[in-house]
Amino acid sequence: MEDIKERIQQLVKELNLHNYNYYTLDTPTISDYDFDRMLEELIALEQAYPQYILPNSPSLRVGGEITKNFKNVKHSTPMLSLGNTYNQSELAAFISRVENGLNENKIAYVCELKIDGVAIALIYKNGKLEQAITRGDGIWGDDITANVRTIRTIPLSLQENVPPLLEVRGEIFLPHTAFNELNEEREDMGETPFANPRNAASGSLKLQDSAEVAKRKLDCYIYHLSTELSDINNHYDSLQLLKQWKFKTSSHSRLCYSFNEIIDFINEWDKKRHSLPFDIDGIVIKVNEYSQQSQLGFTSKNPRWAIAYKFKAEQVATKLLDITYQVGRTGVITPVANLEPVQLAGTTVKRASLHNADFISQLDIHDNDTVYVEKGGEIIPKIVGVDVQQRNQNTKAVNFITHCPECRTQLIKKEGEVAHYCPNSKNCPPQIKGRIEHFISRKAMNIDSLGEGKIDLLVNEKRIARIEDLYHLKKEDLIGLEKTYFTNDKERTVSFREKTVENILNGIEESKKKTFDKVLFAIGIRYVGETSAKKLALHFKNIEALQQATFDELIEVEDIGEKIAESILDFFKEEDNIKTIKDLINSGLQFELSHSTASNKLEGLSFVVSGNFGTPQARKQIENLIEENGGKLLNSVSNKLSFIIAGENMGPSKLEKAIRLGIPLITEKEFLEMINSTNSQQ
Ligand code: IVH
Repeated sequence: MEDIKERIQQLVKELNLHNYNYYTLDTPTISDYDFDRMLEELIALEQAYPQYILPNSPSLRVGGEITKNFKNVKHSTPMLSLGNTYNQSELAAFISRVENGLNENKIAYVCELKIDGVAIALIYKNGKLEQAITRGDGIWGDDITANVRTIRTIPLSLQENVPPLLEVRGEIFLPHTAFNELNEEREDMGETPFANPRNAASGSLKLQDSAEVAKRKLDCYIYHLSTELSDINNHYDSLQLLKQWKFKTSSHSRLCYSFNEIIDFINEWDKKRHSLPFDIDGIVIKVNEYSQQSQLGFTSKNPRWAIAYKFKAEQVATKLLDITYQVGRTGVITPVANLEPVQLAGTTVKRASLHNADFISQLDIHDNDTVYVEKGGEIIPKIVGVDVQQRNQNTKAVNFITHCPECRTQLIKKEGEVAHYCPNSKNCPPQIKGRIEHFISRKAMNIDSLGEGKIDLLVNEKRIARIEDLYHLKKEDLIGLEKTYFTNDKERTVSFREKTVENILNGIEESKKKTFDKVLFAIGIRYVGETSAKKLALHFKNIEALQQATFDELIEVEDIGEKIAESILDFFKEEDNIKTIKDLINSGLQFELSHSTASNKLEGLSFVVSGNFGTPQARKQIENLIEENGGKLLNSVSNKLSFIIAGENMGPSKLEKAIRLGIPLITEKEFLEMINSTNSQQ
């Protein structure tokens, strides 16, 4: 037995060292094959002798722990953000503030890459990773430890001579290759791709299943030591110590002693940043000496001893080839510019959004213009201007189309709205397909055995034209249908064989169990999103009550504004929509809120609702939701309480007691997310 214990210890030690060499130092010291064999041996031993599993075992990196609700915890010291500068004179002003504040002009600064990811605080107790907390609002953050444990460059345990309580801070990010792979996968699955690596990193860290997080290939640079140590007097030395302790620190941080040296560092990285395998959005400049940092202190939001210099979004000029007009499920027309392919911030840009007719006329875009393209936070870049000098004399200003590009119906534009619509909702093919695609989508009826390609084929082959047709499909309508098409430059064949058809029909049948709020979202009333559907379902309880509601009754519901209320009234005026609902009711879909379909997700949990939530009805709704989902509603705070749902101006005595007893405070939104997560699993 001792032999086994020792072998496990040895395997863990060796595998951790190989992991460190591979992921943190980027210098592999073993073949993948040998690594995998050692890991397999370790996993087999751990399965047979679970009593010997070590807390820093590399097998734990694959995840498996599920976190239903991330606990909100308080930071030991606030996690502040940095002030921003955007040009040399703003930076010069920072330097002179520092020099004046210290009454000294020979100051050492550390310049670092500003990694564009998600800030994290890591707490190690006796050398073991104990807690990983997001920035949150700077005072309170989410405990995402189970997910962070899967990140291979974050040590699970540190060598012996570290302080018993250690806190470090850093940035979790997704490298470009991992981001591209993830988005390709999402597109293949028919899911919306992430707009940028930062969103992908933050979305990944909020997943409930840590095994899924482990697959995302997140990485982390540590840039701050929070614990005071007697022998460390400056930031640069702290970075060297963190590196010795085997944290991943950037090798590009540099000591600079003058404004010019700082500017050189900034210019160098403004040019080189696109050769990095991850996104940076600027440079961070920090006063090096701790004694000088404490002399400068903090404002209410930022340290006075550090600043961020943000890079300008990169722009390129390219030729506008033509404009295509896309028709969405609600008939909205979106103009998209097709561009001569051009390299921008590491990717090839071929298309850019033009938003609407007003946007085109504001920029006064002419056919064949040379346009400036910029990459913002969105996946599709935007056109920010026109190079009028390059314009050919004879070109005309772009005229927005007057008729639908798909069904030739004359477009309409409602007063006060910017979008043009195709009003032919019944027969316009992309609207028909868009409505059905929305209906089956994950957050709506979640019929994942159907997807864009299959819907396309079913509509083209006239098997379905309306959402209710799905529930009348029979095996013989489907079997044998086949089509080959191209997406993302890949050839795909959709063919309806026996098994596929069975899955589709089962998926459709299963969807009849979806709760009223999901059905309400799925039927696609314009502007009624997931949250408003939930609030409407809860308030009105069934479709008849919603249908009979007046404008005033509708806007009484929390989060339902005039625009949504009008859209709901318009929806029920259409004979066609009434017909759809009747048909769906006859097929057995849920058009009323039923207690049996409410979840038991909150079973065993108790809640106090405290503070102001806008209206008394809103508060009542939360209380109803607690009980409908199996939770217990309490009036007073005790140490047995699971959560406090805190609104505005929560009572001070309750707040004080909650903090003293360590009862997590959650917002209404977080509470709704708790319930959402259950319902999506139904
Ligand atoms: S220092 C008090 N250093 O940028 C120290 N931040 O608003 C504050 N960031 O929230 C942070 N790279 O998430 C620091 N090398 C770096 C950084 C960095 C990225 C992020 C961090 C922070 C935000 C600044």
